[in-house]
Amino acid sequence: MANDLTGKPIAITGASSGIGLATARACAAAGMPVAVAARRVDRLDALVSEITAAGGRAIAVAVDVRDKDQCRALIDRTVDAFGSIYAVYANAGYGYEKPVHETSEDELRDIFETNFWGSLNVIRPALDRMIPQRTGHVLMCSSCLSKVGIPYMCSYSATKAAQDHFGRGMRHELVAYGIHVSTVHPIRTTTELFDEVARRSGGGRIYGREAMGFVQSPDQVASATVRCLRRPRGEVWTSLSTRLLFAAATAWPGLAEVLIRRYARRTS
Ligand SMILES: NC(=O)c1ccc[n+]([C@@H]2O[C@H](COP(=O)([O-])OP(=O)(O)OC[C@H]3O[C@@H](n4cnc5c(N)ncnc54)[C@H](OP(=O)(O)O)[C@@H]3O)[C@@H](O)[C@H]2O)c1
Repeated sequence: MANDLTGKPIAITGASSGIGLATARACAAAGMPVAVAARRVDRLDALVSEITAAGGRAIAVAVDVRDKDQCRALIDRTVDAFGSIYAVYANAGYGYEKPVHETSEDELRDIFETNFWGSLNVIRPALDRMIPQRTGHVLMCSSCLSKVGIPYMCSYSATKAAQDHFGRGMRHELVAYGIHVSTVHPIRTTTELFDEVARRSGGGRIYGREAMGFVQSPDQVASATVRCLRRPRGEVWTSLSTRLLFAAATAWPGLAEVLIRRYARRTS
C-alpha cells in the first residue's frame, strides 16, 4: 500500500533552485509540510509564499549546509513548526570541471564539505528525531555520475559516489528502526547547476557543454522522488534506460572507459 504523505513533514536543503525547489513544490502538493533551506533566503521566502497561497504549509530556514549548527537548527525548526519530522532530503550541492592537478586543495575539500559532509550534517540530527519515533525517510541527491568517473569532474563524482555508498550501508542499518534510505540519481537536469559549474570552472569542458543525449527537467526528478516517498525504494532514477545504461557501465567498466575517453576526446 502506498504511504499517505499528508501531514508528514519534510526538510529539504538546496530548495532555492532546481531540483530542491521542484521537489519542495511537489512534496507540498502531496500534502507534506515543507521546511525549505538554502543560503538565498529571498528565494526561499518566495517559495514559502507560493506554497502557503496554494493552501500548503512551509517555512524557510537560512542554512549553509557546511555549518553543522545551522543544519541542526533546520531540523529543530522543522519539528517546532510542524510537530515532528518524517523525511529529510539532503539535496544541496554544486559541481565544477577541472583536472585534479589544476584544482586547489581548498576546492577539493570544499566540494566534499558541501556535497558529502553537508548531507551528513542534516541527516544526523534528523536521525536523532527519527530513531525514537521509529519511522522516517532519509533521501540524498546523488547523481548518475556516482556510478562512473568522468574526466574533469572526479571530485564531483567522488562526492556523489560517497553519498551513494553511505546510502546503501545506512539503508541496512536503519531498516530495524522503520527508516527508509534512498539515493536520487539524476541524469543531466536543466537547473542552475551548469551556470555554477561554468562560473567555478571558467567555462565548461564536457559536462558544461554537451548533454550526452540525455536531458530532463527538475519536475521529472521531483515526481520520481515523491513516488519514492510514497513507495520507498533504494534508488531513484527517472527512466529505466538510463538506469540500465549506468548499471552496464558498472558491470563492464573497461567498455565504459573506452566510451568515456572517446567522448572526452571529441568534446575537449
Ligand atoms: N542538474 C543536474 O544535472 C544534476 C545531475 C545529478 C545530480 N544533481 C544534484 O542535484 C542537486 C541539486 O542541484 P541542482 O541541479 O538543482 O542545482 P542548482 O539549481 O544549482 O541548485 C543547487 C542548490 O544547492 C544549494 N546550495 C549549494 N551550496 C549550498 C550550501 N553550502 N549551503 C546550502 N545550500 C547550498 C543552492 O542554494 P543557495 O545557493 O541559495 O545556498 C541551490 O538551492 C545537487 O546535489 C546536484 O549535485 C544535479
